[in-house]
Amino acid sequence: MSVQVKGVAVSTSHDHIKRTIKETADIVQVVGEVVELKRAGNRLTGLCPFHSEKTPSFTVNPQGRFFHCFGCGEHGDVFDFLMKYHRMEFPEALKNLAQRCGIDLEERQLTEAERLQLRRREILFEANEMATVLYQEFLRHPRLGKLARKYLEQRGVDAGVVERYRLGSAPDPEQAGWHVLTDQLLAKGLPIDALQQVGLSVAKEQGGFYDRFRSRIMFPLVDLTGRVAAFGGRILGEGKPKYMNSPESPVFDKGRLLFGLRQHRDSIRKQRKALVVEGNFDVLLLAVHGIDNVVAPLGTALSRHHIQTLRGYADEAILLFDADSAGLKAAMRSIPLFLAGQMEAKVALLPTGHDPDSFVRAEGAAAVAALMEQARPLAEFAFDNLVRTHGLTLAGKNKIVAVLNELIRDAADPGQRALMTAHFSEKLGVPSSYFTTGRQLTARPAAPETAPESPGLARLPRREKQVIDFLILYPEHFADLREAGLEQVLQEPAAVRFVSRLAQATAILPGRPEQLLDMITDEEERAYVVQILTGGSPHDAEQEEGRSMRDELVRWLGSVAHRRTAANIQEQINRAEGIGNTGLLMELIRRKQEMEQKKRGNSI
Ligand code: UTP
Ligand code: MN
Repeated sequence: MSVQVKGVAVSTSHDHIKRTIKETADIVQVVGEVVELKRAGNRLTGLCPFHSEKTPSFTVNPQGRFFHCFGCGEHGDVFDFLMKYHRMEFPEALKNLAQRCGIDLEERQLTEAERLQLRRREILFEANEMATVLYQEFLRHPRLGKLARKYLEQRGVDAGVVERYRLGSAPDPEQAGWHVLTDQLLAKGLPIDALQQVGLSVAKEQGGFYDRFRSRIMFPLVDLTGRVAAFGGRILGEGKPKYMNSPESPVFDKGRLLFGLRQHRDSIRKQRKALVVEGNFDVLLLAVHGIDNVVAPLGTALSRHHIQTLRGYADEAILLFDADSAGLKAAMRSIPLFLAGQMEAKVALLPTGHDPDSFVRAEGAAAVAALMEQARPLAEFAFDNLVRTHGLTLAGKNKIVAVLNELIRDAADPGQRALMTAHFSEKLGVPSSYFTTGRQLTARPAAPETAPESPGLARLPRREKQVIDFLILYPEHFADLREAGLEQVLQEPAAVRFVSRLAQATAILPGRPEQLLDMITDEEERAYVVQILTGGSPHDAEQEEGRSMRDELVRWLGSVAHRRTAANIQEQINRAEGIGNTGLLMELIRRKQEMEQKKRGNSI
């Protein structure tokens, strides 16, 4: 039997199984794997995995079986979560959940289209899984794995670690031929186009295929669902390229995956700290020495996806770098990402010539722990480094601005650029306009080109400033303050302008503070917003505090608005009396009484 859904025939058993799975699956567990959740009444809350935030606005409702983010509006059931976070397709999510629930999902319960869709990605994971097992066998093989075993031993990687990370080896073609893996995978029934798609096999020009990975230690790169998405391969000894990764494929996104995260997620979550290193062997050797809250990107710079992913496990990232200039550059490049990702980041520097691997082998775990204790906030570290290199003379400052400018230009979006400009202009004591205009600092500071027509946000009277700061941090309460008379009460042009901009921003992007930056073109105003957003603010705290602050501000706005309206009515009454307009006078008095009554009502 089948029914029509949106014009497509769907078997009722298909709908039934979907419903059963949705009712059985534990959404708290599924989300909780990648987002740290805390119970709040009958819901759970955490930092949203779909946008950057510092205070939780993401909720999971176990009764309703859905998740919802009050910050960015992402919303859905357990299927949607797997599809959005883990980028699964629907049938894959269905199968994944069925497995978790111990429900037998037979492929005939899927539609034809779903079966095909499921097969398309599943076959790629299968190819990688089978290759992992084969690489493990090659490593254990008396003859084919001999060199690789020796290499691992030499580098201090013990059998336990080999097992835990499922390390393997791709044999030497002189011994095993150029397509030993491809042949074995084909013999197991895997189609060649799947092998090509995940990059295990490469087509020869003259026909036939050869193995991409040869004479290498093989690192399976496991995604957060535990499946092998790709491989990294390190050459045995000298040779180029030293490392080779699988190409990107429908199951492998290089900019999202972190080596070690799947294995180390519990440890990272327990410590609320993730150590970020550059290389695969750094991860392994730290783990050998018992430091296992560590991850590495795959030879690329950290991306905002990496940071967002880490955010589900840790409050803080510690970058462990060699003191050489490549490490410094990498640290610098990640500054805007951490600022925008609202994640704390620190830098711990290794003695020159060491990487984490060689350092932990030479000095031991306690020395690494000591380095981590001394780790310094990322932006501070980068800045001090520039000051050390260039000095704080005028020429030095100009040089620093030039270097930072390059960095700022590289930052992906306007919000990030604004964050950095504000941060560094404050640190250098240089107006932020120098960053964007490329203007040079001169001995006698040039007079401002245009005198500000009104004091900016930073110089508002206390109460108005409090309101503006609050709105920057808690735009979700904007409507409440408006209702209490916000626009009537604010008087300073800077505050009025800001609120009207906020009104536009919230109409388009409800409740995302960092998006507000995109709406602001005025340099000084941006700098101010950034300063409030990046902390150091007096009320950068919990939602609870946000609410009590809101209540206080609503009360204040209400009373000022009331006073103003009352004064206004009184003035009209006086005028009406003056010209003897009795009808108007009666009406005004009635309004005044109504207001007084309402106020008494409110204060009871
Ligand atoms: P490094 O060159 O710093 O290597 O690359 P390493 O980790 O110290 O290497 P070992 O200790 O000699 O084995 C750091 C990371 O950059 C990526 C790899 O992921 C590596 O772990 N990489 C490096 C590549 O992708 N390709 C390369 O040719 C080199
Ligand atoms: Mn190394």
